Amino acid sequence: MQGLRDALEQSQKDGVAIGHFNVGDWVLLKAVSAAGQELKVPVVVGVSEGEREFFGLAEIAALVRRLREECDCPIFLNADHTHSLAKAVEAVRAGFDAIVFDLSALPFEQNVRQTKEAVEALKAINPDVLVEGEIGDIGTGSEIHEEAPDLSRGLTSPAEAKQFVDSTAVDILAPAVGNMHGMLKSMVQGQTRKRLDIQRIAEIKSAARVPLTLHGGSGTDDEDLRKAIAAGINIIHINTELRVAWRRGLEEGLAQQPHEVVPYKILPFAVESVKNVARSRLSLFNGDK
Ligand code: G3H
Ligand code: ZN
Repeated sequence: MQGLRDALEQSQKDGVAIGHFNVGDWVLLKAVSAAGQELKVPVVVGVSEGEREFFGLAEIAALVRRLREECDCPIFLNADHTHSLAKAVEAVRAGFDAIVFDLSALPFEQNVRQTKEAVEALKAINPDVLVEGEIGDIGTGSEIHEEAPDLSRGLTSPAEAKQFVDSTAVDILAPAVGNMHGMLKSMVQGQTRKRLDIQRIAEIKSAARVPLTLHGGSGTDDEDLRKAIAAGINIIHINTELRVAWRRGLEEGLAQQPHEVVPYKILPFAVESVKNVARSRLSLFNGDK
């Protein structure tokens, strides 16, 4: 099976993006992997520090390895939003394919210095691991927020992107281009959508010349996502949309069987609900496949 680096190169040639979906339990993992297999496209499974803690680091690594062998399909594992070198080292040692090393909350120079050190340390353990760095401010929390934070001053400039990539040697860059973590209530209800700065993405891509990740994909306007891919986005992160689908599916399973207590009769509703969202996002990212 090809590695994540090859899959990224292929996606760039094909003008598509790889879907990255966060999973915090087996329901989400089962749904995401099934959606990828149905459409026969690569998927990246992401686990943040909190999701890793709940799932278990070795447990999620073993499950993804097993799924990969079983289906012989491109399913990759990413240590999402890792805020310390110690946690990143743990994930590389556990066999993760990629690490999002996220020090974007620090001043730029500190972020550059520590990310560079992390790239060197992580590649010394596994030269094939891909390291993503983050700059700019896109807010925190894949949750439903009461109001939108003002992120306008934390947008990434093409010059910063180039300086960061050249100084740190990250494999992948996550910029701030109008994206935001989490969703507003109005987005969950489908009344508003996130909009992206497409021109900025294109300029960052031509300055930085590395694969780009779009974080905070949930609730983003479909046409903006298509344009963002054409402008140079290679990976798109979706989390909150899956969490909303997980909850709705669970509620449906419980509502339809008010006296049921058997998990394997209730949880398939959640799997189906999450799978539908993951499949529809994957379809869009892969040229409306
Ligand atoms: O790393 C995770 C993501 O960036 C997800 O953001 O919850 O807005 O989809 P989201
Ligand atoms: Zn993110």
